[in-house]
Amino acid sequence: MTREDHQRAAARRAAALVDDGMRVGLGTGSTVAFLIEELAARRPAASYVATSPRTEATARSYGLSLTTLEDGPTLDLAIDGADQVAPDGWLVKGKGGALTREKIVASASARFVVIVDETKLVDALRPPVPVELLAFGLAATLSRVAPLRLRDAPRTPDDGVLADYLGEVGSPGALARWLEGCAGVVEHGLFAPTLVHTIYVGARDAIHPPSTGDVV
Ligand code: A5P
Repeated sequence: MTREDHQRAAARRAAALVDDGMRVGLGTGSTVAFLIEELAARRPAASYVATSPRTEATARSYGLSLTTLEDGPTLDLAIDGADQVAPDGWLVKGKGGALTREKIVASASARFVVIVDETKLVDALRPPVPVELLAFGLAATLSRVAPLRLRDAPRTPDDGVLADYLGEVGSPGALARWLEGCAGVVEHGLFAPTLVHTIYVGARDAIHPPSTGDVV
């Protein structure tokens, strides 16, 4: 099986969780593109909150019904890809630049389901860790939050500046807390296991991070 086959296998299993009447968050990336195709094939009567203009455009092109967190602040389910998955369920996300909206959507959801292929499994999280920065005072933020590499990328839809933290990750929880305490950092791409309900890795058995259950 190719990597794309594994991405689609994970996407298909997550798509099967979507039932009529659900409000569902859609992440961003190539694995989510397979998810959208699978949802378009199944056509549950669900409505979807997109985490990026790219996802919104793709979902719209497949005829999925879109909604917002303004229409309702909670979601039944959110499904998204990841850049790295550690054995304890910590994730790195945000390579595609949508990390802030992705974390808001995951946090608003009763269940956050991650879909990846095996290339995303790592023994320990490593740099780069994507971050979104406020444009105001950028030079001051860069002088304090180091080492950071600015991306050669457009501003986010929320006018944020994208960068990557290049220091060692070490303890993800400690790094997450430090980044959250840095003025000017809007969000970082470390997602804690407590946020994650299920991880589908290709066609393998589902993983439930330790905080929510055992590996099944
Ligand atoms: C988008 O900002 C990221 O968080 C994606 O979820 C991540 O990069 C996974 O993308 P792929 O499914 O394309 O690997």
